[in-house]
Amino acid sequence: MAEVGKETNARLSEILPRKDQRPEVLHEAMRYAVLGGGKRIRPVVTLAAFHAAAPEGAGREKVLDAGCAVELLHAYSLVHDDLPAMDNDALRRNRLTCHKAFGEATAILVGDALQCLAFDVMAQAGGDKAEVAIRELAQASGSLGMVGGQMLDMEGEGKHQDVQEIELIDRWKTGALITACSRLGGIFAGASDARLERLTQYGRAIGFMYQICDDILDTTATSQQLGKATRKDDKAGKLTYPGALGEKEARAMAQKRGVEAQQIIREFGKEGLYLRLLCDYLLDRIS
Ligand code: IPE
Ligand code: IPE
Ligand code: MG
Ligand code: MG
Ligand code: MG
Repeated sequence: MAEVGKETNARLSEILPRKDQRPEVLHEAMRYAVLGGGKRIRPVVTLAAFHAAAPEGAGREKVLDAGCAVELLHAYSLVHDDLPAMDNDALRRNRLTCHKAFGEATAILVGDALQCLAFDVMAQAGGDKAEVAIRELAQASGSLGMVGGQMLDMEGEGKHQDVQEIELIDRWKTGALITACSRLGGIFAGASDARLERLTQYGRAIGFMYQICDDILDTTATSQQLGKATRKDDKAGKLTYPGALGEKEARAMAQKRGVEAQQIIREFGKEGLYLRLLCDYLLDRIS
């Protein structure tokens, strides 16, 4: 993870427009929002899935770029998620949120521009698979994916904790992009339909698990560990698993998803090693 994180940061720094390119403040703010922190789990998922489906690994640079495209889209989603009109947060990745550092109007434009850049990068990375890869990202991030999940998350504030609704929110707002990463790894590897289906199921299981853990960490971790404010979900009346079932049951739910993910990838044998380790890491993370 540390290795892929470093590679991702270096590549993102190359991809993003330089600070001295007009409009300078916009580019400085885009770089601020993307660089300097972040676990980079989406490129890690993308590369781990690619490795599982194509262990000989030809064309890895393009896969890293596809992971970077998702990371740009994810960074946009965080900038907008933190806005006063949404979660109204002041701290992200252990520093001021983009709108606190650069103002609200600039932060909105940062999100807009990062989204466009994400699709540009995916188009270039995709080669003869560009159309499929772009559609993958579009569908995972639109109104039937991440953005739709954010809408349901907002609409759910203050409502009765309903487990089915929480599952839908988590699967869409976070699971969809992570599933796209797992699928993109398979797509770039030229995986068979059956294997792509396995990677889809794996992505769904760990993506769902990831948001359950994020919600648990909101109630158990410190702000320093996470680099963002904690104990906010309850105050905002968010629909979450720990809110509905308590921490212990929520933890059991996340673990169940982890076991599911491990079973799904069994057929990848030793090539599935990174996917297995990743699943364990995501379940046990404390930051
Ligand atoms: C935070 O995402 C928001 C969720 C989707 C849970 P990450 O936990 O991946 O945040 P970074 O990129 O590491 O900061
Ligand atoms: C955010 O979920 C998910 C997306 C940005 C799509 P949260 O609102 O729980 O993420 P954090 O806790 O602010 O990182
Ligand atoms: Mg949110
Ligand atoms: Mg938030
Ligand atoms: Mg959260």
